[in-house]
Amino acid sequence: VRIPIDRSSEVPLYQQIEDFLRQNILSGKLEPGTRLPATRQLAAELGVSRITVKNAYAELEGDGLVDSMEGSGTFVMEVHQRPNRLITWEPEAWPLWQQELQGEDQSNLAPQPTAREPHPRMISFTGVGDPELFPLKEFSKTMQTVIKRDGVDALLYGDFNAGYAPLRKTITRVLASQGIQANPEQVLITSGSQQGIALVCQILLKPGDVVIVENPTYNLALELFRALRLKIVGVPVDESGMQVAKLEALLQRYHPRLIYTIPNFQNPTGASLSGARRRALLALADRYHVPILEDDFAGDLRYEGTAQPAIKVLDPGGRVIYTGTFSKMLMPGLRVGFLVAEGPVFPKLVQAKRVSDLTTSTLMQRTLNEYVTVGRYQVHLRRSCRVYRKRRDAMLSAIRHYCDECMRVYITQGGLFLWFRLPEGMSSTQLLPLALEEGVDYAPGSRFFVNPEEGERFLRLNFATQSEENIEAGIQRLVKAIDRLRK
Ligand SMILES: Cc1ncc(COP(=O)(O)O)c(C=O)c1O
Repeated sequence: VRIPIDRSSEVPLYQQIEDFLRQNILSGKLEPGTRLPATRQLAAELGVSRITVKNAYAELEGDGLVDSMEGSGTFVMEVHQRPNRLITWEPEAWPLWQQELQGEDQSNLAPQPTAREPHPRMISFTGVGDPELFPLKEFSKTMQTVIKRDGVDALLYGDFNAGYAPLRKTITRVLASQGIQANPEQVLITSGSQQGIALVCQILLKPGDVVIVENPTYNLALELFRALRLKIVGVPVDESGMQVAKLEALLQRYHPRLIYTIPNFQNPTGASLSGARRRALLALADRYHVPILEDDFAGDLRYEGTAQPAIKVLDPGGRVIYTGTFSKMLMPGLRVGFLVAEGPVFPKLVQAKRVSDLTTSTLMQRTLNEYVTVGRYQVHLRRSCRVYRKRRDAMLSAIRHYCDECMRVYITQGGLFLWFRLPEGMSSTQLLPLALEEGVDYAPGSRFFVNPEEGERFLRLNFATQSEENIEAGIQRLVKAIDRLRK
C-alpha cells in the first residue's frame, strides 16, 4: 500500500493513514480478506512512528472495517461482517463533468430483472452459437503453428491499412462460395461486424441524422445509433423481412442518410427478406440516394429453402456496404469481421478504422487465415447447420406441443433465433423474473424496438446453444412461467 502522506497538512498523520485506508476498503480497492502491512513495516515505509500506524489501525478496527488477529496480522473485514452503514463508499460529490453524465439518459444501462432465487441449472435461450461446437483444439494448434512459422511478425501491428492481405483474399473466397463476388481490394478487416457498423456511421452520419432500420432490429445496433445521437426511424418487419412497401413514404418524409438492414435470418425475428423486396429496396435507396448497410451476420447458417442473392450482389456499384463476421459461424471472441465496399467511401473507412484501433489483432488475423480454408469452413458450416437445424426443429415442436393457440412463433429457415409472441396483454419484461425462477432465460422483445414498449409482447429465443432435451425442458419451464404470470 502506498499511502500519500502530507506532512504540511493540519490533519494528524494517523488520521491521514486511517482516511486513506478507509476509503480504499469501502470502495472495494482493498478487497475483504486482504492483509494490511505489519505496523512496523508500514511505519518504516512512511517514515512515521509505529504508534501512529497502530492508532490508525485501531480506529479502523473500532469501526468494524478491519480485524486484528493476534500473531497473524490485521485483515480487511468481510462485507457482511461490517456494520450496515459502512458497506459502500461514494465520494461526497462527483466532479461536475461526471455529474453531467449522470443526468443523461441511462435507459440502455438499466439493470436487467433478476430472479429472487436463481435456478441452479438455468437453461439459457440467449447468446449466439454453441461453444461446444467451437473448433478449440484445431484453432489452438493453428495458432501455435502461426507463431512458430511467422515469429514476431505475428505479434507486430501488421498492416495498418485494410488488414492482413492473405485474410482479405480468403474472405473473398469464402464469400464467393456463398455467391458473393468481391475483390480483396474492397475488403476491410474490422474488429467484429459491430465495429464495421460503427465505422460506417462514423463516415456517413452526424448527430441528428436519420437512420432507417427494420423494427424490430439488432439491439446493439440500436444502442450504437442512440449513442451516436442519430434519429432512428423503423420500418415494420413481417415474415418476408422489412416491409419495403412502407419505405418510400419514410424516405420522402425523413431524408435518411443510411438504411441498415439484416436481410438473412434477421436478429431478432429470424425473417429473411424476399428476393422481390431486395430488388425494391435497392431501387428505392438508389432513387433517393441513400446508402444501404447490409448486415449478413449469419447468412450462411441456412437449414432449408433457397438463398436469395445478397443485396450487395444486386448492387451495380457503390450503393451497398456489406458487413460480415466470423462470430456466429466460428467464435465471437475472435473479434474478426469485415466490410466490403467500393468507391470513395472505402479509403475513408480504412482511415476511420486506423484511427479507431490501429488494427485488428495481427495474431488473430493470421491464425484465422491459416484456419479458414474454404473446404474447412464448409465442413464446419455443414456440421453447425446439421446441429442447429435439429435444435430449431426441437424448439418448434416443443412450442407446438406445450404452448396454446394464443402464443405464436415466427418460423425461420436458418440463423439462431425464434421470435415468440405472448398472449395478448402479457409482458415479456414482467415474465422474465418468473422465467428465471423457473430456470429459463431469454431476451425480452423491448430491447429490439425503436420504441421499447412496442416489444413487450415478444421475446427472442436462441435455439442454437442448447441440446434438444434442454430445449424441450426450457420451453416447458417457459410455459410454466407464462401460466404463473397469467394467474
Ligand atoms: C445482427 C448482428 N450484427 C452484428 C453483430 C455483431 O457481431 P460481431 O461484432 O461479433 O461480429 C451481431 C451480434 O450478435 C448481430 O446479431
